Amino acid sequence: MNHKINVLESKIKEALKEIDINIESVNLTPSNRPDLGDYQYNGAMALAKTLHDNPMNIASKIVSVIKDFTEFKEISIANPGFINITLSDEFLIDFANNSLKDITYNYNLGINKTIFLDYGGPNVAKVLHVGHLRSANIGQALNNLCKAVGCQTISDIHLGDWGRPMGMVILEIKTRYPDLAYFQEDYNGEPVDFNLTNDDLLELYPTATTKAKENESIMEEARKINLELQKKHKGYYALWKKIVEVSLTEVKRIYKDLNVDFDLWEGESDNFLYMNELFDYLYSKNIIKKSDGAEVIEVKEDTDKKEIPPLILVKSNGAVSYEATDLAAIWERTHKYKLDEMWYIVDKRQELHFTQVFRASYKSKMVEENTKLIFNGFGTMNGPDGKPFKTRDGGVMPLSDLLDNVTDECEKRIMESITENRKEIARTIAIAAIKYADLLPFRATDYNFDIEKFTDLNGKTGTYLLYSCVRMNSLLKKAKENKVNFDHIQTLTTDNERKILITMLDLKRIVKRSFENYSLNEICEYLYKITNLYNNFYAENKVLTEENEQKKTSWLALTKLIFDNNKYLLNILGINIPEKM
Ligand code: ARG
Repeated sequence: MNHKINVLESKIKEALKEIDINIESVNLTPSNRPDLGDYQYNGAMALAKTLHDNPMNIASKIVSVIKDFTEFKEISIANPGFINITLSDEFLIDFANNSLKDITYNYNLGINKTIFLDYGGPNVAKVLHVGHLRSANIGQALNNLCKAVGCQTISDIHLGDWGRPMGMVILEIKTRYPDLAYFQEDYNGEPVDFNLTNDDLLELYPTATTKAKENESIMEEARKINLELQKKHKGYYALWKKIVEVSLTEVKRIYKDLNVDFDLWEGESDNFLYMNELFDYLYSKNIIKKSDGAEVIEVKEDTDKKEIPPLILVKSNGAVSYEATDLAAIWERTHKYKLDEMWYIVDKRQELHFTQVFRASYKSKMVEENTKLIFNGFGTMNGPDGKPFKTRDGGVMPLSDLLDNVTDECEKRIMESITENRKEIARTIAIAAIKYADLLPFRATDYNFDIEKFTDLNGKTGTYLLYSCVRMNSLLKKAKENKVNFDHIQTLTTDNERKILITMLDLKRIVKRSFENYSLNEICEYLYKITNLYNNFYAENKVLTEENEQKKTSWLALTKLIFDNNKYLLNILGINIPEKM
């Protein structure tokens, strides 16, 4: 089913042919002057040049052929050639009822692409810290948005599970527990009774890496272990598997809370299986150069405004680089799947890395030009003081601590009346507070974490939205208990109802722009706006006790529409609505 606004635009376009105006498309936009109309058409200004006429004249000619449309309640012209349109109630009601029947009507843009999304990117044996929050939140929300607009997606966590730090951690374990079966000559892959926890890893990793950095012979030993690991040395490989498993269990626990999930739980180790194939290919293309003992690919272009250094494939010490890993990942993905686009949701400070990797991919022709590689960098979440987020003792803030702190705050501040499932509900609210605050600024913008502000019930917050939705939901439940039927809107009586539906009508445009900008900020603003409008309406009308049946059922249907739609939008953001609050 075509969206009503688009149908109306086509109808106007057809009518313009009567006055010999043939244009590609008519674009109606929500009015900048709501006092003059709901929508405006600005086409007359653009036509002035080609028609050699003044915009006011053109506007009045346009109006002469569309003024009797039943879609309009009123149409007028304003200087220097704006056409202001007030939509008829029938139009709005019909639109609302279409949406009530099928909310996806406002989302499906008919974009039928296959998009691969790389987000999350936590590192094995390292603490999952606040820096990983944004990649997971934004990545998952974009993934959900892609599906809502009609795309197929494949998501991959791209675990940092390979490389020399793994050798360092294994060496540290070996130094502490030399008798473990993993390190014995006759070890043959059998399960080992070795109790390793995530907390152990969080202590082991920094100790191991500091030791290696401070002592060249330890570094050398770690390098050797890493090489053997890459050759699948039985003991090292089994221990590595164990380390990955322990890390992943913790990562999965936190991601589950955040409503983050992946189709593929692959890691850099999986991409490494394609390294030889990749290198053979790149050598065959003759684009690898030797430079000071390293192997590089030149990626600068004449139009560059700043210097883009060559991509280092193999470092002078023989180690395969992070860039090579990403090339191998692209190699694997483009060989396994037929992709239109590949999106990376990674800290914007990694932009240069991806510029180099993307250029090398196209230059070597391992990726076709019509497969788009897209870097969606995000800004930093800083501490309340605007400086990098740290714990009180100056360390990085583990994500699990942050979630716990916000959960406690929500329990204290906004849940006096709840007696059952307090912890669970507090968690749901906390996730909403964090996620909404995280998705509200434009993706690439930095922001400061502010627990009081983010959990405020009366602000532009996740808690405010949840609270409003819970209230809508309980209103609907009460109506059902009273056996009131409300499956469609019959009449519009107040100005606020019109305002809500006009805003609802604009949803598809917001969805489209969010998809085009790879950012959720407009959706967050939109949720706030429409929820506010609904709350104004709610404050003004006593829905359940209204005597006029037509009004009452229309108001309930409107409530259901806003609730369903808010739920759908919150779902895209990865936010759940609790039953009570
Ligand atoms: N593990 C990396 C890090 O913590 C992020 C991975 C981003 N994705 C990628 N394909 N490189 O910095």
